[in-house]
Amino acid sequence: MSNEQRFFRFLQQRIGLDVASVGAPMVERALRQRCAALDACDLDDYWLRLQQSTEEQQALIEAVIVPETWFFRYPESFTALAGLASKRLAELAGARPLRILSLPCSTGEEPYSIAMTLLDAGIAGHAFRVDGMDISPLSVNRADQGLYGRNSFRGSHLEFRQRHFDETDDGHVVHERVRQQVKLQVGNVLDPALNTLAGSYDFVFCRNLLIYFDVPTQKRVFEVLKSLIHEQGVLFIGPAEGSLLARMGMRPLGIAQSFAYVRQTESAPAFNSKPVVIAPMPPPVSNVPRPSPMPARKLRVVAPSAQARPAAPDSSAELLAQIARLANAGSSAEAQAACTRYLQQYPPHAQVFYWLGLLSDTAGDSGEALSHYRKALYLDPQHAEALAHLAALLASQGDTAGARRLQERAARRAGRESEQ
Ligand SMILES: C[S@@+](CC[C@H](N)C(=O)[O-])C[C@H]1O[C@@H](n2cnc3c(N)ncnc32)[C@H](O)[C@@H]1O
Repeated sequence: MSNEQRFFRFLQQRIGLDVASVGAPMVERALRQRCAALDACDLDDYWLRLQQSTEEQQALIEAVIVPETWFFRYPESFTALAGLASKRLAELAGARPLRILSLPCSTGEEPYSIAMTLLDAGIAGHAFRVDGMDISPLSVNRADQGLYGRNSFRGSHLEFRQRHFDETDDGHVVHERVRQQVKLQVGNVLDPALNTLAGSYDFVFCRNLLIYFDVPTQKRVFEVLKSLIHEQGVLFIGPAEGSLLARMGMRPLGIAQSFAYVRQTESAPAFNSKPVVIAPMPPPVSNVPRPSPMPARKLRVVAPSAQARPAAPDSSAELLAQIARLANAGSSAEAQAACTRYLQQYPPHAQVFYWLGLLSDTAGDSGEALSHYRKALYLDPQHAEALAHLAALLASQGDTAGARRLQERAARRAGRESEQ
């Protein structure tokens, strides 16, 4: 076994990490960092010390995890949650509070977004509880502090920040009313002890974790997640994580871009036997109006359907930035239109095809997504995100060899970058 392989195996067994998904050089960098921190003579020395210290094991895990997250990531999921939660509460008729799990919760943006969504939907605090769990004690600790910087607030719909946060010199602090809805703890999705929670949750959010796992680990985790949700519960996942679920007895709920899945049984549709119709998010309890994306004076001259359209940027770089903003904010139709505009006005660009791929992926159109990702890679064979997303898509379709080839390509690219 090569010097690094035993560490890769350790990380695979302990947290499920498929090293190829983040690239071997990234993990090798983390190993070098930890060796330096401990003053270890070489990898053999470090291996020994890793075996002897649970603290060091945790430190290595902290060095390789990807804690990237932000408030209201994939906004449609939260709109869907508000509608589904109200229905579920009506069915429960006060028998017990709603239970929701965010695993992994990272630094807390996801579980707090869930709590804010339900409070804004007019659901009383005593009627629901959110559990947040993550393998990283550092992230859970940060979640517990509830203090957030600019990076946690992305997109243009940030009205929730006024309602639920206090601004301080160090950043925004989430209100106690939201915090007290969320119970945080350190936990591993691979921990067999999770079985004791079987059937506990009405909603489980497990987003942007499975992309870091190989297919057998993804299957294992999906079984755990399926068991955690109540028979009629709903599982929310990340955009690139859906295809495998269909083969595991789950089906999409049919709410665009919510990435919400339920068990595939004729007799147990989610929460009631009527088709689920999701109303738009109810107005927030404080009735703070959503600011219009355009100045009021322009509304008089613009057709209603175009009101949400942002002003046209006048350079290719600005248009690219606008596409990114729209896509990150979940404004998919506008982002797609901006991509089309870009391709009409400027020469083909890998980043634009990548966004189109992601938007199709998000909309569940994997055929279109494949074709766009491939165009992105034709224009830029080393486009990191296109490589990662195309690999995840191929893996979810059972093409593990194809996925592996792309992951290796991504790892080679990361390797070259780290040498520069
Ligand atoms: C990219 S974040 C996702 C956060 C959030 N769900 C979202 O979508 O914004 C991935 C998180 O997974 C956590 N993680 C990695 N392996 C884990 C495991 N085996 N069990 C629980 N959490 C894990 C990491 O600590 C990291 O915080």
